[in-house]
Amino acid sequence: MSDRGKTVAIIGQGYVGLPLAMAAVDAGWSVIGVENSRAKYEGIAAGVSPVEDVSSDLVKGAMAAGKYRITNDVSDVADASIVVICVPTPLNDAREPDLAILESAVSGIAPYLVNGTLVISESTSYPGTVRDVVAPMIERLKSSSDVAIDVAAAPERVNPGDVKYHQKNTPRLVGGLDAVSTKRAVDFYNTICDEVVQVSQPEVAETAKLLENTFRLVNIALVNQLAQLCADQNINVHEVIDAAATKPYGYMKFTPSVGVGGHCIPVDPMYLSWWAEKNGSKATIIDESDAINLGMPIYVSKRVRELIPASAKTKRVLIMGVAYKPGVSDVRETPATSLRDDLIAQGCEVGWLDPLVSEWEGLTPVSVDWECDAAVVATAQPGMPVAAIAGRGVPVLDCTGSFAHLENVTRL
Ligand SMILES: NC(=O)c1ccc[n+]([C@@H]2O[C@H](COP(=O)([O-])OP(=O)(O)OC[C@H]3O[C@@H](n4cnc5c(N)ncnc54)[C@H](O)[C@@H]3O)[C@@H](O)[C@H]2O)c1
Repeated sequence: MSDRGKTVAIIGQGYVGLPLAMAAVDAGWSVIGVENSRAKYEGIAAGVSPVEDVSSDLVKGAMAAGKYRITNDVSDVADASIVVICVPTPLNDAREPDLAILESAVSGIAPYLVNGTLVISESTSYPGTVRDVVAPMIERLKSSSDVAIDVAAAPERVNPGDVKYHQKNTPRLVGGLDAVSTKRAVDFYNTICDEVVQVSQPEVAETAKLLENTFRLVNIALVNQLAQLCADQNINVHEVIDAAATKPYGYMKFTPSVGVGGHCIPVDPMYLSWWAEKNGSKATIIDESDAINLGMPIYVSKRVRELIPASAKTKRVLIMGVAYKPGVSDVRETPATSLRDDLIAQGCEVGWLDPLVSEWEGLTPVSVDWECDAAVVATAQPGMPVAAIAGRGVPVLDCTGSFAHLENVTRL
């Protein structure tokens, strides 16, 4: 790994950073994966991928070929000509942007960057983060005023669990602080992606990423509200949605759900909302949509409790699928948490199971034969025993639309 010009360091080896690392290896780069979580670092060093979309064999193969190495020593970024930041950008308790992890990553790498390094941020954030937060911090903390650093934004669009779209065939938005930064970042992603979309400034790339996820948040909120309105009036919302979806243009199908989860849809739009407020405006449509989606687990809790037979002596409810979406073990921001909390607050005893999740907030799953009075499918994980549970007469509320063909199953 001695050729700096062909070496890229990737800060954060999670859902975004590790797939990028493997894609870069595939494109001929030598990759240094920098990871500061001890458990993740040790796991990857032992050849175990922490991410479903990346096989352990792929990681082991890249390491054996000398094209990938994992480190927890941030000074190793000095060996790379490109440093890509892929660290979390969550919300704080007030549901406002929390850039502490990003700032800590930037301040960690800054002193070790050598002259001519290109720093790219893939982390999702509000418009102006790269220009007003990342770049000034590098300028302030770099080892010497003789060190010149290029900086660009290239927000990641990865969709964990998606077998069709990945790093290579998902067009990449790239905007640098100046023409040189932009060109260098475009050249880098051209080695990895089939299509690179150059935009005029980082703020365009940052805002576009937020628009994409806000589009989903708002449309999900729309069908979630419609589901409640239709249920009140005995109209089958699924028939309505399918009917609307026969329109061949100008419509995109979204379906009701227990709410939104994960690191993107519930989080990114709040960055846009916060940014609007910082600039003296209000993104009212985002705030309203957020409130509707946050209310869904409470609505679902009410609907599943209505299924508990009046004769039941207990109020035991089983939640099936606690990851925030099918095919992943990721429980970050899962709406199943609010659902569980509300069920407990309403006096229910709650069990859960999810074939991909072995532990959830310190709790282990119940077995398939756990006695319950009602069940709710929150996420349609593959391999879930819905048929077995409905088959023994347990009323099931299906929030995913995947099990409507089964007896004893009601759709949300
Ligand atoms: N997960 C997604 O589906 C997705 C999709 C598109 C964009 N994004 C964005 O990408 C960014 C990363 O998200 P993610 O899902 O990969 O997060 P993640 O938690 O899966 O991975 C981030 C990794 O960074 C590590 N880390 C944090 N600080 C570090 C530091 N200073 N040095 C080294 N490692 C550090 C963490 O330990 C973690 O392993 C976020 O801004 C997110 O919004 C995520």
